[in-house]
Amino acid sequence: MITHYAGLQLQTVSLPSVRHFYHEQMRFPIAYETDNRIAFQPTPHVTLTFVEAYEPVTPVHIAFEVPMSRFAEAAAELRKTQAVIQKWPDGKEIDVFETGENIYFRDCDGNLLELIAHRYLKEDVLAPTGPFHILYLREVGFPVDSVPAFREWLRQLLGMKLDKVSDEFTFVIGGTAHAVVVSKRRKWIPVSMLALPPKMEVTLGVSSYAFLAEVKSLLHMQDNCSFSETGTGLRLNKDGYTLHLTAQTAFDPELPALLNLPFS
Ligand SMILES: [Fe+2]
Repeated sequence: MITHYAGLQLQTVSLPSVRHFYHEQMRFPIAYETDNRIAFQPTPHVTLTFVEAYEPVTPVHIAFEVPMSRFAEAAAELRKTQAVIQKWPDGKEIDVFETGENIYFRDCDGNLLELIAHRYLKEDVLAPTGPFHILYLREVGFPVDSVPAFREWLRQLLGMKLDKVSDEFTFVIGGTAHAVVVSKRRKWIPVSMLALPPKMEVTLGVSSYAFLAEVKSLLHMQDNCSFSETGTGLRLNKDGYTLHLTAQTAFDPELPALLNLPFS
């Protein structure tokens, strides 16, 4: 099974700007830094990497899960940074929805970030990290031409679960990882941001090498996805997105169920 997002790599036109935003403002520890890339460690289980590229930046949407009991504190902490909080059309910053609360903000590159908390989540399972009490990277947005085609590909190949299914939007869920699969024609809330497909590489943790072998045998029967084997897993290319699958993580595959996530 897919267990979690282990990594996300994005492009940037300014490494010092992302260093300032993510390290000095968000206080994410730096995992490593070279001449053309910088990697942050928002939690021990995920790496957020920015690579310098001579190309326009297309903004991504990502969300970090925080415990419900620490959400107000995390939102207050966010207001102390230079992050631009993205208000709803009626002026509110925090949305209270059926199962939780969230707040959206932009980074120095215009990426649309979110802190989100859910009431159903068990809080004594995973230690929160840093001043924003981040538990894990929950969401990565995937704007696509066909939501049904992309979600079915993820469901059949990787055994992911589906929620809030429509032709324009679907959550495709594996462990704590939620792929927000949206139509390119649907704009991101709450600021009607056009859903351009970002240039990104997404690393998904998997539960075992046996699971990787199953995925590989399914890939041999497909002709709509190119893939290659890497030192630690598989690299897939689909609809302009690169997905890495890796079994080399310290993330306990039992954690999503222990967290009481509905699809685990
Ligand atoms: Fe979101």
